[in-house]
Amino acid sequence: MHKFSIIGKERGLDNRARNDILLLGFAIRTCGSRCKIPLMKTNTQHTEIPLSLASRIQALAVSAPTAPWLGDAEKAALRAQIKQRLIEQDAVLVAHYYVDADLQALAEETGGCVADSLEMANFGNTHPAKTIVVAGVRFMGETAKILNPEKRVLMPDLRATCSLDEGCPVDAFAQWRAQYPDRIALVYANTSAEVKAVADWVVTSGNALQIVRHLHAQGHKMLWAPDRHLGNWIARETGADMLRWQGHCLVHDEFKTQALEDLIALHPDAKVLVHPESPESVVKLAHVVGSTKVLINAVQQLPDAKFIVATDAGIFWKMQQLAPNKTLLIAPTSGEGATCQSCAHCPWMAMNGLQNLLQVLQTGKNEIEIDEVVRQRAIMSLDRMLAFSRQQGLVAKGRGDR
Ligand code: 13P
Ligand code: SF4
Repeated sequence: MHKFSIIGKERGLDNRARNDILLLGFAIRTCGSRCKIPLMKTNTQHTEIPLSLASRIQALAVSAPTAPWLGDAEKAALRAQIKQRLIEQDAVLVAHYYVDADLQALAEETGGCVADSLEMANFGNTHPAKTIVVAGVRFMGETAKILNPEKRVLMPDLRATCSLDEGCPVDAFAQWRAQYPDRIALVYANTSAEVKAVADWVVTSGNALQIVRHLHAQGHKMLWAPDRHLGNWIARETGADMLRWQGHCLVHDEFKTQALEDLIALHPDAKVLVHPESPESVVKLAHVVGSTKVLINAVQQLPDAKFIVATDAGIFWKMQQLAPNKTLLIAPTSGEGATCQSCAHCPWMAMNGLQNLLQVLQTGKNEIEIDEVVRQRAIMSLDRMLAFSRQQGLVAKGRGDR
């Protein structure tokens, strides 16, 4: 987020001109500057994020070390070594759409996968490799380990966290959950293994709507944590009775409504694609709301030639690969109320690089470990999610599924 700047800022261009430059493609690069990230804002009694915690999350984001820039020759040498190590160690690379394009490409070239968090979990669970290397953030590595205890799960940097995960500490969540024994507790995948162990269901943005509809139709009331925007969207769409935690994603929370309206006015022929972790007023401007996978499918399948995209800019690599002739614009993160001119990239996803990926394969360091009692509880809520998603055709069937 704060590590990326849009080319043009340095050239003294205004927001509108910078967005025009983005019409040309994936025009962002690291700038190394450290701007301020706004503190979490909260609005309900039970689920407020204390200021001290919000400050801690802010400090974590600001200090997250971005993977270093590398020249082409260095990249080629690293890629060759990583490929060799993956084969030698019977390892598979599973990458999220938000990580560096080099890692996404490498995952595909080596028989791994590039996916949203739901598909990442499913892929790791169905692939026979003995080691899963997860390029993403920590909850994704933990999910892989919970589902595959017999496998070694490595990550380029274990400090790659998530503001939603950090904003939902297990003690506070368990206390809240205990107040409502009559409600089913749903947690977003962007939580710790401990929080998943206290919940009844795990959901991702790729299946939350379907799971909440299913539970609502059965007459259940729910608790929802931690993303308030995703929770609000799901509650609006389904009419379900959901008490909501007030966490947020510090990347998606930065998309600006007025600036987006201005951009839409400039490009009335563009379809607007929004990840539901974005603020309600931004979601309301969308033609398509959905997980990273849903947004990618929209670019590929809709007949339109131009799209405005409100999610992490890492997604452009896959969108451009699948729809090279389409024009993609990043939704504005600057404008009124902005504290950051260079957002739309997760500071923790940006920690993943070729160098630290090779290092973990060389050293075996950064292995995910989960307490077995926690794991056995957490797998119940994750298994529920995967079984439902496979049954609904949201992901491919697993081993032993019919
Ligand atoms: P997806 O589940 O859509 O991949 O999103 C994960 C995430 O962290 C979005 O910020
Ligand atoms: Fe978490 Fe937001 Fe980063 Fe996704 S983009 S990992 S929700 S901080």
